[in-house]
Amino acid sequence: MTNCDDKTFQLGAMNHVGVAVPDIEAAIAFYRDVMGAANITEPEILAPQGVKYAFVNLPTGQVELIEPYGDTSPILKFLDRNPKGGQHHMCFEVEDIHAAKDIMETRGMRVLGEPRIGAHGTPVVFLHPGDAGGVLIELMETHKAH
Ligand code: CO
Repeated sequence: MTNCDDKTFQLGAMNHVGVAVPDIEAAIAFYRDVMGAANITEPEILAPQGVKYAFVNLPTGQVELIEPYGDTSPILKFLDRNPKGGQHHMCFEVEDIHAAKDIMETRGMRVLGEPRIGAHGTPVVFLHPGDAGGVLIELMETHKAH
């Protein structure tokens, strides 16, 4: 890995853990009825990313439940390997997604694609798990007050 010249970059808050599920309604029922999560959002579709998602809101952070949506959903492959679902990614906040992408590339990370709007309505990128200890990392631009 090369050195990065931007020493000011700091990883922000842990925002959520993404969990792939074969059946989002069943997963919501599990988090509500078994785990006791009181605040879970209604499922919504994010077609460009091929997911149906819901957030389990917790005092610190969220679990993002993601069910495949459409025939080309990247979650389908994951569920082929993990039919019951499983931990899929973790998401950290960054101040500026484009700066973070450049910095990560300078540091030798493979960034998967260009920043695109994620489930929180702010741009996100994913980092290749092969460069990140086997963990698919999502970087998400922090919500800014308008
Ligand atoms: Co996510």
